Amino acid sequence: MKFEEKKIQLKDGRTCTLKPNTSEYAQDMIDYLKKTSAETPFLLRNPDEVQYTLDGEKEILDRLYNDPNSVMMIAIVGGKVAGNSSINGMGDKRKIKHRCSMAIALYEEYWGLGIGSAMIEYLTSLAKEIGYSQMELEVVANNERAQALYKKCGFVEYGRRPNALKFDDGSYNDEILMYKAL
Ligand SMILES: CC(C)(COP(=O)(O)OP(=O)(O)OC[C@H]1O[C@@H](n2cnc3c(N)ncnc32)[C@H](O)[C@@H]1OP(=O)(O)O)[C@@H](O)C(=O)NCCC(=O)NCCS
Repeated sequence: MKFEEKKIQLKDGRTCTLKPNTSEYAQDMIDYLKKTSAETPFLLRNPDEVQYTLDGEKEILDRLYNDPNSVMMIAIVGGKVAGNSSINGMGDKRKIKHRCSMAIALYEEYWGLGIGSAMIEYLTSLAKEIGYSQMELEVVANNERAQALYKKCGFVEYGRRPNALKFDDGSYNDEILMYKAL
């Protein structure tokens, strides 16, 4: 969806702009998906599984920008992409259309500066504006930083999915299920 850009001040004094992600960032997003999935084991994709073409990624970003029920929010610091976050509806059916899911990832060099908190605060107000009344997410069980952020932003744990992720070394990890009433 289209929404107003917002400027926030980071803990180190720099300014960060939160704004709609658009097809002009398609190549940046492909680079971002590859690099962030290599920087942390907490994202669903392995780096070699990022196989979007430039045209394919442009199409996705255009579609989400024009979808009034989805948000793709990019964070820009000093002209560079710092991260991205999104909300997506669970579906059009009347029994579930009050629910949305949320996802967020930043490049490691931008962790701990307050971007995650600001993005979730802004996503929450946009989700309410769309008409959602519940936001949900899954987080890897040992992702302490993300869980601290989500709890701070009002998410509550409601369950655990055993062995949700299998890593290339053969090990597994659980996912914690969290939700927030809007
Ligand atoms: C998880 C992530 C989005 C958090 O964003 P962030 O901008 O670093 O978060 P913030 O700076 O707003 O910090 C939010 C809270 O996290 C907690 N936190 C910060 N550093 C932490 C650390 N090292 N360990 C545990 N908690 C920490 C604090 O409670 C902090 O709140 P405070 O600043 O009021 O004290 C970001 O670190 C990231 O992209 N990580 C990799 C991808 C990922 O894990 N995504 C989530 C998948 S579910």
